[in-house]
Amino acid sequence: MHINPYVFILPQPPAQIVWNYKEHTQHELDINYSTRLAQLINDPNSFDNNNIIDTQLLEAGILTVSKTDIPDWGWDELSKIYHVGTQNIPFEQPPQNIHEWSRQYLEHCTDVLATPAPAASRTHPAPDERIALPEPSGPTGADLRKTLLDRKTCRSFTRTPVSLPDLSTLLYLTLGHLHERIPDDSSAPGLTARRSSPSGGGLNACEGFLFAQNVSGLSPGVYAYHPAEHSLSLTNPLPDFALGNLLCGQHFINNLPLGLFITSRFDKLWWKYPHSRAYRMAFVEAGHLSQTFQLVATALGLNTWLTGAFADGPVEALLNLEDSPEQPLFFVGCGVSDGQAMCQELRDLLERQAVRP
Ligand SMILES: Cc1cc2nc3c(=O)[nH]c(=O)nc-3n(C[C@H](O)[C@H](O)[C@H](O)COP(=O)(O)O)c2cc1C
Repeated sequence: MHINPYVFILPQPPAQIVWNYKEHTQHELDINYSTRLAQLINDPNSFDNNNIIDTQLLEAGILTVSKTDIPDWGWDELSKIYHVGTQNIPFEQPPQNIHEWSRQYLEHCTDVLATPAPAASRTHPAPDERIALPEPSGPTGADLRKTLLDRKTCRSFTRTPVSLPDLSTLLYLTLGHLHERIPDDSSAPGLTARRSSPSGGGLNACEGFLFAQNVSGLSPGVYAYHPAEHSLSLTNPLPDFALGNLLCGQHFINNLPLGLFITSRFDKLWWKYPHSRAYRMAFVEAGHLSQTFQLVATALGLNTWLTGAFADGPVEALLNLEDSPEQPLFFVGCGVSDGQAMCQELRDLLERQAVRP
């Protein structure tokens, strides 16, 4: 007898939940069942056909008669559980035609809209206390092909400030609610805002915090961006340590003039998409926004850099998001660069090594 490799055990006092994350089944075990399961985990060969608990554990698929081959997984169990657990979500009645799809989709939307929606946007500070950004104007005459060909990751930035009009354009075209897009009347109330990037469920769950170190006309600081009014509000002063400390020691980025922490409002996603597969979509959406930011920056003649390498704790503290359902996912920045993919210090090191006998 074998223990199913696709189960994990979750303590939920006084019971233990045995969760088959591949089949999406859960079994609640009392002390007798969990004690017996512990014995079988210790020695699967002690399986006893005459023991009712053993046969029930087998029927439940917690035990298996033959060994289950599992494909290689290069990370630890945590990501495997999440990935496998969100691969094939059970769909009780998949629609068989366009009419069934339309009916089911409408029912889903009606059900969702019948529950209270999370706040659409930040309420703090009041709009009249926010810093209005100049009307976004650029990039004019940018050629898409050239922009795509020019975009590249740079790791060496000069100390040239980014202008306020460029910052305004960057934020508006990346995250702003576009006033050029006529609201789609078919969208549910509160879900009509549109950005230049697509958004899962039209929820605009992603938001952004500006990390401004060197923007002309804007005091250095960490700012929340308000996409509906195209304005900023100060969240915190810049930390008293270098940006590289926040981004896993990548100190080549310390004088990056500005960056954007892309966050996701999980509460919005929970509201419309209760299955944890939607967690994948949060990152996909952040990726879209990151690429848009980079293309706009490139079209403005700036160079870009990006990372997901940070410990959430200090970033959450900086963005005032500790214990919040809004969580930081990604960081993307831009500025004037010498165009190098490697910082000078690394290039010097490589050169010194190359001349060694
Ligand atoms: C999801 C993602 C995470 C990345 N993380 C980092 C990072 O932590 N540090 C870094 O210097 N570059 C990072 N990069 C940039 C890549 O190294 C870079 O895109 C790649 O080398 C290709 O170069 P290019 O962007 O110039 O085409 C990341 C890129 C992506 C898409």
